[in-house]
Amino acid sequence: MLRNILLAPYFYLRKIKYSRMVKKLGWKQTVLDFWKWESGSKTNSVYAIICDGAKKEDFDTNDRSLVWLLNPKSSDGCLNIGCGIGRVEKHLHSHVLEMHSVDMSEGMIQIARENCKNIPNVYFYVNSGDSLSMFQNNTFDIAFAELLFQHVPLEVIKAYVAEVHRVLKPGGRFICQIPTKQKYGHMPRELCGWMVKGEVDELFSNFSNVNYNSGGTNEFYHCPTVTK
Ligand SMILES: C[S@@+](CC[C@H](N)C(=O)[O-])C[C@H]1O[C@@H](n2cnc3c(N)ncnc32)[C@H](O)[C@@H]1O
Repeated sequence: MLRNILLAPYFYLRKIKYSRMVKKLGWKQTVLDFWKWESGSKTNSVYAIICDGAKKEDFDTNDRSLVWLLNPKSSDGCLNIGCGIGRVEKHLHSHVLEMHSVDMSEGMIQIARENCKNIPNVYFYVNSGDSLSMFQNNTFDIAFAELLFQHVPLEVIKAYVAEVHRVLKPGGRFICQIPTKQKYGHMPRELCGWMVKGEVDELFSNFSNVNYNSGGTNEFYHCPTVTK
């Protein structure tokens, strides 16, 4: 409580600073500059940048992912949005038919391709940062976006969810993490599209079986599984 009060001026100034940066540079450049995914990806520090302090070895052994909550099947075509360096692909590829993985950072995709170069059923794409235009309608059985939407403006989350609806097959399922106001409310929504639960319900109003209790929801993220 006291900590929050002491930090309030810092968060307030930071919010103004990033709002100004987004106006000047646009959200995409601001996000890329802030996280330095492009420059960081030239060194091993990429592992620290992606997941607090993780080392390369952790990526070879750690199969943690929210996609397991969808119970992937060997006949599934799977989409991963904001895939980073192929961390999940290494472990999931043998459980599904194919994986198609997109990221807006060329640096991340370069590393992902290198990390998964011997895996035949995984395909990586650099995307625009807000669309899945390389995929046709009704393509995927399952899709997920993990540790992505806290880096994405509100409007872009909405654009991605509409795209997910388009590219999932009827009956296809999606899981993602949407940042909560409780933990991310200090960020400008032009940079981090935090939401309250009612907004998440509205976001997925075109989907059915919206289920927040599948295991991923916590104080940082709403984590619904939804069905097209
Ligand atoms: C924290 S990393 C998570 C990577 C991966 N999902 C994982 O769990 O290992 C976030 C990733 O999202 C990518 N990213 C950020 N904004 C994006 C956007 N609008 N569209 C696609 N990828 C994005 C970044 O380049 C980065 O690779």
